[in-house]
Amino acid sequence: MKISLRSASAQYLFAFLLGVTIAATFASASRASTTSGASTPTSPPDALVTRGRYLVEKVGMCADCHSPRNEKGGFIHERWLSGSPLGFAPTVPMPWIPFAPPIAGLPTMTDAQAISFLQDGKRPDGSTPLPPMPAFRFNAEDARAVTAYLKSLKS
Ligand code: HEC
Repeated sequence: MKISLRSASAQYLFAFLLGVTIAATFASASRASTTSGASTPTSPPDALVTRGRYLVEKVGMCADCHSPRNEKGGFIHERWLSGSPLGFAPTVPMPWIPFAPPIAGLPTMTDAQAISFLQDGKRPDGSTPLPPMPAFRFNAEDARAVTAYLKSLKS
């Protein structure tokens, strides 16, 4: 009886040690992969820029007016948001600007000016853009994200 108990605990001990060995092997393998990953120069994704890109590309649809198109109507991706003549016009007389200026890199505004503009629609000089520029009213956080994304692009 005593012998069988001892052998049972020996089995548990063996299983336990085996488990520790396997865990240690996996831990060192994952450390090794982390170490090799660190040598690759990849910057961590910037959450603010990622959110700003989503707001610009999927919500504000800024490219519809601000990105130039090729002869087939598709976006010229190398010139993303670099300004474009509009491909449409109003059917009734109204104030209208037929060209959407470049917004990649936001060349005409500082970060603070852009964040303010995206919330209240006023340029730094107090003027408001004419149609068809929509009067966006982003909240402060989203205005910061849109600005971070646009500033991350080359102007
Ligand atoms: C329906 C077309 C249209 C869409 C969509 C649009 N814009 Fe515009 N945007 C314009 C036009 C046209 C102007 C020029 C207005 C003017 O000069 O009075 C303009 C002006 C601007 C300006 C002012 C630039 C300056 O130097 O004065 C900024 C900044 C801007 N847009 C950002 C954006 C952003 C960001 C988005 C998306 C969230 C966006 N626009 C979506 C048409 C558009």
